[in-house]
Amino acid sequence: MNAVDFSAAVSATEADWDRERIRGFWDPGRKLLRSIRKYQAAKHRETAFANLIARYWALNHWFWSLVTQSEIHLNCSIAGGLLLPHPTGIIIHPACEIGPNCLIFHQVTLAGAVKLDGHCDIGAGAKILGPVRLGRHVQVGANAVVLQDVTDGNIVVGIPARPVSS
Ligand SMILES: CC(C)(COP(=O)(O)OP(=O)(O)OC[C@H]1O[C@@H](n2cnc3c(N)ncnc32)[C@H](O)[C@@H]1OP(=O)(O)O)[C@@H](O)C(=O)NCCC(=O)NCCS
Repeated sequence: MNAVDFSAAVSATEADWDRERIRGFWDPGRKLLRSIRKYQAAKHRETAFANLIARYWALNHWFWSLVTQSEIHLNCSIAGGLLLPHPTGIIIHPACEIGPNCLIFHQVTLAGAVKLDGHCDIGAGAKILGPVRLGRHVQVGANAVVLQDVTDGNIVVGIPARPVSS
């Protein structure tokens, strides 16, 4: 995970939308995310035409969900700046709330009411079983199973996940 900027310089409150800017034709994580953004924007407008547009993006979401074998619900509450570097097998329950500038690796499950406050980086294969809240600038180790709240700035690893001893 060191290849990704884990430092507190990444804001936990101000969304960095550039993280979601599509980089090229093959960018499944960002394209999956774009379908959710566009769907929600169209739904918000509540006109007949916007409803048609929403249907298009729902179809697009279905396509990228199939490609990535991920289930990120169209109505999930996701703040800006989410990164999905290897978007496969990611499952996010519709009750989850994801704060700004989080990062979610492959095979991660956010089950039930999981709240990520902001700039939470979730390692590959981690399972977070709600209801649970992760504070700001939290790191979850690969394959951890998080069952309890994690306070700001903590790194948790293992099953069940516990803070790394400093
Ligand atoms: C949790 C993590 C961020 C910690 O990184 P770090 O701060 O550099 O911590 P260290 O490597 O110094 O490890 C600290 C301790 O936690 C343990 N640890 C680290 N990661 C662990 C993990 N995923 N599961 C269990 N224990 C882990 C180490 O063995 C070490 O234990 P010790 O103090 O008893 O020796 C990192 O190990 C991790 O899991 N990153 C996820 C990476 C990932 O998913 N990458 C996908 C790329 S495709």
